[in-house]
Amino acid sequence: MIEVVSLHPRAPDPAVLARAGALLREGELVAFPSETVYGLGADATSERAVRRIYEAKGRPERNPVIVHVAAAEEARDLSADWPEVAARLADAFWPGPLTVVVRRGPSVPDAVTAGRATVGFRCPSHPVAMGLIRAAGRPLAAPSANRSFSVSPTRAEHVVRSFGLMEDSAAPTNRARVSLVLDAGPASGGIESTVIDVTGAVPRILRPGLVTLAELRQVIGTVEAPGIMLRPDDGVSALPAPGMLERHYATRARIELAPLDGSAEVRGWLDQGRMVGWMTWAAAEEIESPRVRRIDIPTDPREFAALLYDAMIRLDDQGVDRIVVAALPLEEDWMGIRDRLARASVSA
Ligand code: TXA
Ligand code: MG
Repeated sequence: MIEVVSLHPRAPDPAVLARAGALLREGELVAFPSETVYGLGADATSERAVRRIYEAKGRPERNPVIVHVAAAEEARDLSADWPEVAARLADAFWPGPLTVVVRRGPSVPDAVTAGRATVGFRCPSHPVAMGLIRAAGRPLAAPSANRSFSVSPTRAEHVVRSFGLMEDSAAPTNRARVSLVLDAGPASGGIESTVIDVTGAVPRILRPGLVTLAELRQVIGTVEAPGIMLRPDDGVSALPAPGMLERHYATRARIELAPLDGSAEVRGWLDQGRMVGWMTWAAAEEIESPRVRRIDIPTDPREFAALLYDAMIRLDDQGVDRIVVAALPLEEDWMGIRDRLARASVSA
């Protein structure tokens, strides 16, 4: 099994961080909490270490990984070009859940960028993530700490379940081992960072996330959000971020996005003898059945984001056949959540 060490989320033990940092410098993989989801970290300056991430995750080679830095200057130094808009975004949102894509500098390994001319940077606000970058003394390449295409982890247990058994079964080799999981309790944000590309004339959202469009506009004015998936039938003809492949964040149970509160769909599945997970508004009627697992959707999108992945994983664990989700508000603040659920509901 993987080694898991518990840390205080705000005052992590420096000795543990020092040990984790040393493992990273040796080219090992260390999973850690951030303010969005748990990440799977590797030394971003080492081609070999970053390749291990792809192997451990079963990640498609063309999907670049985010580089986590402790300060904006580190990102600037690793870039070919650090435009004014990147500086303004970093000023306003770092440390925090925003990834800024700029042109890569020569010292960034190919494995990080998947061979592209750009690289995404994020300076995380979680004290454990920040402490780990500092302890490693290197920028850290880190995707979400899940196997590719499945739900991102918001708890250390989720990470252990994805990678814990790898040594015995799915593991291609122990080169892809996760050496250590730092457990600081649930990741509070719950969905991933917003990814914004500032290499063009107008900044473009590649992935909606915890920082909203309104917040971005306040700081940099016009922002484009082309090709963001808000319904499964939106399709992905204009694939935003490379690797935001059609089916993503997938649960074992199929996810169905209902046009209203979902009660009709839930009754339909119950009639067919199925067990159903139901994410719906608090105001929706009660459906009395031992085969319904209901989760009320909070009115604040940030609260829903915080519980969404954990709820999806728990419903899967409970063995539901379907997960019915009520229609979500069209407001921009819900964009990140709607994008994730749309992708999760695309059939395989
Ligand atoms: O909140 C987060 O961003 C988490 C935590 C751990 O920081 N990380 C995360 O990484 O979600 P990952 O690998 O699961 O998703 C990274 C996304 C992908 O959609 C990837 O295509 C995009 O960022 N991305 C990374 N570098 C890019 C680049 N150079 N150009 C375009 N998109 C990029
Ligand atoms: Mg991911």
